[in-house]
Formats: sequence, C-alpha cells, structure tokens
Amino acid sequence: MRKPLIVGNWKMNNSTAESVDLAEKLKKTVKDMAGVEVVVAPPFTALGSVRDAIKGSNIKLSAQNVFWEDKGAYTGEVSPLMIRDLDCEYVIIGHSERREYFKESDEIVNKKIKAALRNKLKAIVCVGESLKEREEDKTMQVIESQIRKGLEGILNSELRTTNHEVRLVIAYEPVWAIGTGRNATPSQANEVHAYIRKLLSQIFNEDIASNIKILYGGSVKPSNSAELMSEKEIDGALVGGASLDTDSFAQIVRSACMV
Ligand code: PGA
Repeated sequence: MRKPLIVGNWKMNNSTAESVDLAEKLKKTVKDMAGVEVVVAPPFTALGSVRDAIKGSNIKLSAQNVFWEDKGAYTGEVSPLMIRDLDCEYVIIGHSERREYFKESDEIVNKKIKAALRNKLKAIVCVGESLKEREEDKTMQVIESQIRKGLEGILNSELRTTNHEVRLVIAYEPVWAIGTGRNATPSQANEVHAYIRKLLSQIFNEDIASNIKILYGGSVKPSNSAELMSEKEIDGALVGGASLDTDSFAQIVRSACMV
C-alpha cells in the first residue's frame, strides 16, 4: 500500500516572513490529517525558517532544485549537502520550468538524481509532455524517454531506505496543465501513470517499482483533487498555485487522506 503524498511547490514566491506564516497556518490546518504524507517546498531562502516553523509537525521539507556536485567552485548553486543540512527530506528534480527556462536535459536530471540519492535525499522527479507532443500523439514516447534517460544507471540498492521506504517519487506533470488552470482528466492522468508504473517495473525490481509513488501535477485544486486522487494509479499530487493558499492546500490534503 502506497501512502498518499501531497507536495506543495511554492516556486519563486514568498518572502521568508510570508513563508513562515504560510507554514504556521498549514501546520495547524493539517495537524489531524492522518494517512497522508505532507511536504512543502519553499524557496531556498526560506528553507531554514520553514524548517524551524514546522518542527514537531507532520509536515516535511523539500527543496525545489539541487546541483549535482557536493561542493566546489559553482557560483550560485546549492549542493545536496546544504539541502540535507537544512533537514530537507525531499528535493524536486527536473521540473518542467527548469527544463524549459534553464535547459535542463535528461542527462542533467540524471546527474541531479544521482547526487540526491548519494546524499540520502528522496528525489521527486518530474516528467511530462508539451501540448504539441500530446497533440502529435507522442505522450508515451516522451515519458518513456524522460524516465529511461533520467533514471539511467540507478540501482535498486540506491533507492531503498533503512525503513523500507523508496527514495524516488515520480511526478507526472503535463506541461500544458501547469499553471494554466487546465488539468489532465483523471483518466488521461491514470493512463500515463499506469504506463510509468510499467516502465518502472522494467527498470527496477518489483519490490522497488511497486513502492515508488507516482504523483499527478498540473492545476490541481480543491475542485478536482478528490476525483484525481480516486484514480487507482494516482498516489498523490504535486501542487503549485493552490499550495500558496492554506485552505486550498489543506482541502487537497484532505481529499488524499479520504481515498
Ligand atoms: P500548478 O503547478 O499546480 O500551479 O499547475 C504545478 C507544478 O508546477 O508543480
């Protein structure tokens, strides 16, 4: 049984004070919600303060990005060691905004995943097709290529944690659905999720593959989350815009614990 996971990606929003305020409010709202794992990904600048704000709560911390080297002359980059030092358990890798604006290739994504795993972080790896690719019927082809190249050379043993969790989460985020208000239908998403699950079982052993959570992302909001979460292959959500509002995010979390 995979426990549902809801991740709030705050992107490049909020001052430190605003981030702490959001974290405090969220902490109160989700404190009794059991049976679901809740993660927030504030901007780097607010990670330390949010870490302190959520201490002792059921909310975990994620970074939004990471560099692939542990240290050195890489001006402006943030290393996996630094993220670990701030008590992040997760890191988002290969978000479509990074692939698009910062030209992150599957090879870069692969290096970053390896760096995260090497440093005992859990990687939330994003994949997804553009509108043009969907219209040209290339969705599965694009997903397969992103998954295979992104996960190349990663061993089963690198993914297992000591408490039987898996250090890898996949987020299926169709690019045309991110921040557009236009979400994939539950059945469209479920179809891609099932395909990702099949690919994972070709790459990893069954024990690992069946425990990797596959999240849906792209305009998840309170009005569509319950329906999305009820799909068999959808294990949770990566939420952007709606995670900046406490009530909306809490409603999405609630819809996941009711499944
Ligand atoms: P959105 O973003 O919920 O605002 O569409 C999702 C994401 O980019 O992870």
